[in-house]
Parts: sequence; C-alpha cells; structure tokens
Amino acid sequence: MTDTEIKKGLAGVVVDYTAVSKVNPETNSLLYRGYPVQELAATQSFEAVAYLLWHGELPTDVQLAQLRATERQYRALSPDVRAVIDHVPLDAHPMDEVRTAVSLIGAKDLAGSGSVMDAGGTADENLARSIRLFAALPAIVAYGQRRRRGLEPVESRDDLDYAANFLWLTFGKEADEVVVDAFNRSMILYAEHSFNASTFTARVVTSTLSDLYSAVVAAIGALKGPLHGGANEAVLHIFDEIGTASNVVPWLDTALAEKRKIMGFGHRVYKRGDSRVPTMKAALDTLVEHYDRPEVAELYDTLESEFVSRKGIYPNLDYPSGPAYNLIGFDTLTFTPLFVAARVTGWTAHIMEQASANALIRPLSEYNGPDERHIDGYVPDE
Ligand code: ACO
Repeated sequence: MTDTEIKKGLAGVVVDYTAVSKVNPETNSLLYRGYPVQELAATQSFEAVAYLLWHGELPTDVQLAQLRATERQYRALSPDVRAVIDHVPLDAHPMDEVRTAVSLIGAKDLAGSGSVMDAGGTADENLARSIRLFAALPAIVAYGQRRRRGLEPVESRDDLDYAANFLWLTFGKEADEVVVDAFNRSMILYAEHSFNASTFTARVVTSTLSDLYSAVVAAIGALKGPLHGGANEAVLHIFDEIGTASNVVPWLDTALAEKRKIMGFGHRVYKRGDSRVPTMKAALDTLVEHYDRPEVAELYDTLESEFVSRKGIYPNLDYPSGPAYNLIGFDTLTFTPLFVAARVTGWTAHIMEQASANALIRPLSEYNGPDERHIDGYVPDE
C-alpha cells in the first residue's frame, strides 16, 4: 500500500466548475444561477425555474409562454409508453417504472439517429430532449399512481399550468390554489443541488459522449437510493412507524440504540441545516392548516426537536416534503418519482453544461487486492 490519500465517497473533492447552482454551507444558502432558491420558490413557477436552469436567465413573459406551449405539446404519453409501463409489475417500485418509461421515450426519440458517434446530440437537440422529459414526467408519475390504485388515466388539461396539471393528472380533480402553490414550491426546491450523487452520475454518463436520455436513466437509478432521493419516502415510513408525537421518545430511544439512521436528517454538505427546509416547512404548515391535520405538525416538530437535541443533526429537504406529499394525497411510493420530475431540470442543465465543456470523468483507485499471481500449469504461447 502507498500513502495515497483516499477521498472515500469523493467527500470534499472539487471535480469541476458549474454555473448552474451554488451551495454554500457557511452562509446556509443555495443559489440557482445566482438567485436564492427561497426567492424563486416564493415568486416563480416551476416552468420559469426550469427555463432559468437551462438558459441561465429567468424567462420574459414571451419566453415563458413559449416554454409552456412546448411543454403542453409533449405532455401526453403515447400508447406504447403506457403499454411498457403496464408491463412493469404492479408491485415493482415506481422508480423502476419511471426509469423504464424514460428509457423508452429516449429510444423512440433517438431511433434512426445512427452511430454512437452522434449520440451526444447538439445543444439545441439536448434542450428539446430536456423539455420533452420535463413535460412527460408528470404523466408518467401520475399514470403509475393511478394504475396502482386501479384507476383509469386522466388526460392533461391545456388550461392548467405544470403544477396544477400534475395534480389534475394524479387525482382527476382540480387542486385548491394553496395546494398547487405548495406543490409548485416543492418542485422548485427539489429542482437542483449542484454535484449531488444523481447529478454527478448524469455528468459521468454525459462525459463519455453518451446521450441525454441514458444520462437521465442512470441518474434515476442513483436517486432511488434511500441515502439520496429515496429518503422522502423513507420519512413517511418512519412517521407511520411512530404514529403519534407521544411515541417519539421511546421510538427514538430504540432506533438510536439499534444504530438506525433517521431518514430525512443529515446532509453531506450542510452540517448546520439544509437551506431549503424552512421554505418547505412553511409550505407543509400551509397544508397542515388547509387539511386541518395538526397532529402531523406535532409529530414533525417533536421528532425534529428530539433528534436535533440528541444528535445535533438537522433535517434535510426530504423531512418536510415527505409529509407534505402525504397530505396532498400522493402514495408514499410515489414521493421519489416526484423528486425525479423536479430534478430532471437540474440534471439536464448539468448534462448540457458537461457536454459544452467536456472532459471524460475517470478517477483513479488504489489497488488493495492480492499481489500478482499466476494460474497453475499455465504456459504462455511461444
Ligand atoms: N441518522 C442517524 N445518524 C446519522 C444520520 C441520520 N440521519 N446522518 C448522519 N448520521 C451520523 C452517522 O451515523 C455518522 O455517525 P458516526 O460518525 O458515529 O458513525 C455521522 O453522523 C456521519 O454520517 P455519514 O453518513 O458518514 O455522513 P455523510 O456526510 O456521508 O452522510 C447522509 C450524509 C448520507 C445524507 C446521512 O446524513 C444520511 O444517511 N441521512 C439519512 C438519509 C437522508 O435523509 N438522505 C437524504 C439526503 S438529502 C436529499 O437527497 C434531498
């Protein structure tokens, strides 16, 4: 063994520049293209934030209208995408369904595009592909949840913008404005977070000059894990286990004695609290009031204060978004697919950035296996 310093998990390693977002744990801030995410969540639609991530500037009214018109064009799922989703077993995880549907959309879009040498696509082609996925994901996620509930799919409504249409597609009824607003905020907060595991995965795939769809499929795989996107689902499992605020202390005693990780807490970068949490907690509070479910806030607050006081580890975005999605009516297994629908904007912004200034991502490793050895009786050819 040499004395090479191993950066396990690439912790603390800066691998490239990015102009898409800036995470600053010191000031507890997250900027998308320079704008604080809290300001964007309070003032913008998710479509406008998608535009910002892709183009670097917020859209004018005309540009936003154009994006919305294109988004409407690509909302519907073709019968073969629905059919392929129907082939995914009903008891498979919905993330597998989303990954499969995105893969088919990509294969169809790239059909006839020739050799792998052209896979990467031009900047314009990649922007069009990004909008296509952004537009199709709500229908994929909603179709999955309705399928599992034994309900017929619902068609998109051109009079509804992205967030309202997403809720319409899922529940088949128009959502109240306060719910649309909370959901829109969650999409904005989930949209982008620099070189997290799934975004880095997308950049690794792009760096080989593979195509945008392959990069997104790989990113979906990375997001599925409970240490990353899967945590919003895991938070609800924990809430279900605990039941009521009065059970928090004994539940936590046991969980910590068993050295369990408490999902929805902790972050690789933020050590003093996730900058997105206050905005999402405020959105959760409006939902608690709207649905008159004070016991949800009581459980949330009790677990947070107990865990923070014992471990000094703060909630991340998944902690408030899990119960928020539950109150809106999404099935627990649908939470991480919602994260996909939001994060596809950040992923594709990074894919286009990586492609525009590419270097193959290929780190080194320190070998710690057996010394060189040989097959008994092997005689090399003369
Ligand atoms: N519950 C209990 N202990 C924790 C938690 C937690 N949620 N998070 C960290 N710790 C402890 C670890 O056990 C470890 O303790 P030790 O030093 O005694 O062994 C210490 O804090 C450091 O934890 P690591 O996992 O090594 O720190 P890392 O920076 O790699 O972890 C991570 C970040 C993976 C997010 C971790 O905090 C975690 O597993 N959290 C739960 C899963 C989660 O909520 N993920 C969502 C991430 S944010 C997002 O995707 C939106």
